Amino acid sequence: MAAARLLPRPLLRTALPSRASPQAFSRSLSQLPKVAAAHMAPVNGFVGAIGNTPLIRLMEPGGSVKDRAALYVVKDAEEKGLIKPGGTVVEGTAGNTGIGLAHVCRSKGYKCVIYMPNTQSQEKIDLLRMLGAEVHPVPAVAFDNPENYNHQARRHAERLDNAVWTNQFDNVANRRAHIETTGPEIWEQTDDGRNLDGFVCATGTGGTLAGVTAFLKEKSQGRVKCWLADPPGSVLHSYIQSGGELMDRQGGSITEGIGQGRVTDNLKPDIEKLDGSVHVPDAESIEMVYRCLDEEGIYIGASSALNVVAAAKMAKALGKGSNVVTILCDGAYRYQNRLFSRKWLQSKELESAIPQHLQKYIILE
Ligand SMILES: Cc1ncc(COP(=O)(O)O)c(C=O)c1O
Repeated sequence: MAAARLLPRPLLRTALPSRASPQAFSRSLSQLPKVAAAHMAPVNGFVGAIGNTPLIRLMEPGGSVKDRAALYVVKDAEEKGLIKPGGTVVEGTAGNTGIGLAHVCRSKGYKCVIYMPNTQSQEKIDLLRMLGAEVHPVPAVAFDNPENYNHQARRHAERLDNAVWTNQFDNVANRRAHIETTGPEIWEQTDDGRNLDGFVCATGTGGTLAGVTAFLKEKSQGRVKCWLADPPGSVLHSYIQSGGELMDRQGGSITEGIGQGRVTDNLKPDIEKLDGSVHVPDAESIEMVYRCLDEEGIYIGASSALNVVAAAKMAKALGKGSNVVTILCDGAYRYQNRLFSRKWLQSKELESAIPQHLQKYIILE
């Protein structure tokens, strides 16, 4: 099982990839943590396969961390009676929540309509359409513009009968997904927190960071440190560093699905609980995409690579031997025509960020 082979790798300890040893990949099943064995039991369909992700098993069944939010916002709409059988789920998304929703909708018999900024990768748009979603790529404009993809999604749902706008950014069912699943899974897989000193990840909606932080802070009575990681162009690092005074929006990033211009309702309850934040330039994230592939054999997207860089910085700050957990949000498959294209890297002035010995992975022109 792929997860079994990946489990012993050191992301859990410091999130700092090191050279893979053949031994690490050939441990017998009896040496694996109990949780890996638990995942060998069959699960019930797509919905049953969401959650209980072993720490170094990278993906969710829909291929990203956002499957959890997708399932919870749909369940929330059902519980509140906002959607009935055969109804339509409408969402604004950078793509991954949409892909999770498209899967959940297929398995539950709903239609799925997605609005997304037209800056996102073609791979995500294609996959959404293959999964049966109706996709509207729209110009990327700020949240305060009525043509922002989220507002367009809301208006679309309002025009239909039996339809719900799941509103992942401000619907706290998203945060709850991570309080009830991701947080407890991290806790259990770090020996009830005994092997856990820190948690860090970047935010889009903030659901993952907020939910995990809420859970870990309560469980550890504040002991586990929680940090936010931010790409260029996102305001949250400056907001946290300035004690809520500044919102510096300068720059832009190649990362997708993360970076935020405001404090969402999902992040609001927990932003004060954070112990720090770290800014990660794109050059460091893209280098880590290549390093993870080369040194760990794992093929991750840029937001995941940013998280690994941030986890390494946090582990360094917390001191030798500290264990920091982060999230590998999705795979590079969703971005490979960009991340491994020389032309694209050149257009972003990032070709020189890839060390010489890793340039062999730039296989697309
Ligand atoms: C690739 C990727 N990474 C990270 C995130 C951020 O997760 P969250 O919305 O829980 O903050 C997203 C969100 O869409 C994403 O698509």
